[in-house]
Amino acid sequence: MTDEPMSPDAVPGVSPPRLPGPLTLAGVSLAFLVVHALALAPVALVAHRAFQDGLGHGMWRSLVAALVLTADLALLPVLLVACSGAAGLVLAPRYTGRHPLDFRLPALKRWLLSLAIYFPTAVLLDLFHLYPLKSLHIRCFGGRVARGAVVGGLVTDPSLVEIGAGSIVGGFSNLLGHAVERGEVVFDTIHIGAGCGVGARAVVLPGSVIEDGGLLAAASLLPKGARIPTGATFAGVPARSARVLRGRP
Ligand SMILES: CC(C)(COP(=O)(O)OP(=O)(O)OC[C@H]1O[C@@H](n2cnc3c(N)ncnc32)[C@H](O)[C@@H]1OP(=O)(O)O)[C@@H](O)C(=O)NCCC(=O)NCCS
Repeated sequence: MTDEPMSPDAVPGVSPPRLPGPLTLAGVSLAFLVVHALALAPVALVAHRAFQDGLGHGMWRSLVAALVLTADLALLPVLLVACSGAAGLVLAPRYTGRHPLDFRLPALKRWLLSLAIYFPTAVLLDLFHLYPLKSLHIRCFGGRVARGAVVGGLVTDPSLVEIGAGSIVGGFSNLLGHAVERGEVVFDTIHIGAGCGVGARAVVLPGSVIEDGGLLAAASLLPKGARIPTGATFAGVPARSARVLRGRP
């Protein structure tokens, strides 16, 4: 992986998506809290009535308990990112190349440990579509996600992945920086330029490059070491130029 920063420049002809500002995000979070608190309130009231005599709690105490529970649930992803991200800053492996599939090797032990810490939080963030937190989490594990990029899919090896400004990685896609094949593990970088798109459920294998403005169609497979040239669309398994699919020269 190069040490040069990703270009934040917009790609000509590709308009970066408009993303919500911090105020909108704060408003949405607040609405999330209120809606969940309201949903939990009747449960709290029923519980209060049922256990009033036994526990001796007042109605307001039950409501406050519901609010606290809701706030806890909302804060959980933040806490998980903080804990798992801190571990990632120390542990994230940053190597490429081939290794024998032998988990006694320190490199593979470290890789597995890092994945074990990274994955549960990554999957949880995916579940709740918490994209800004997800980008932060990937960065903690050595990934490079430019501002304005939206990562909906799973980044399996964050330290090997680079995603440029304004790019969108579709839901349920998988960016795999490693591939286990014939008794070996291959690690290689994935470079996604600015203004790119990775379709939903697409799979991107190690060593591949999507140049600025490139698009990988939904449910397509970008093989190891493949390159989508600037502004081109590739589709299929394995992905080929969409011009070829359309039967055009
Ligand atoms: C690739 C894509 C942009 C093509 O859309 P389009 O420009 O409107 O083109 P068309 O739908 O006319 O398809 C063009 C050709 O590509 C083929 N094609 C389209 N999507 C394909 C896919 N996912 N896999 C394989 N072939 C595909 C079509 O069959 C057609 O081939 P033909 O000309 O031989 O019939 C679109 O299908 C796609 O996959 N978009 C990604 C959306 C997404 O997942 N976004 C992220 C999550 S929101």
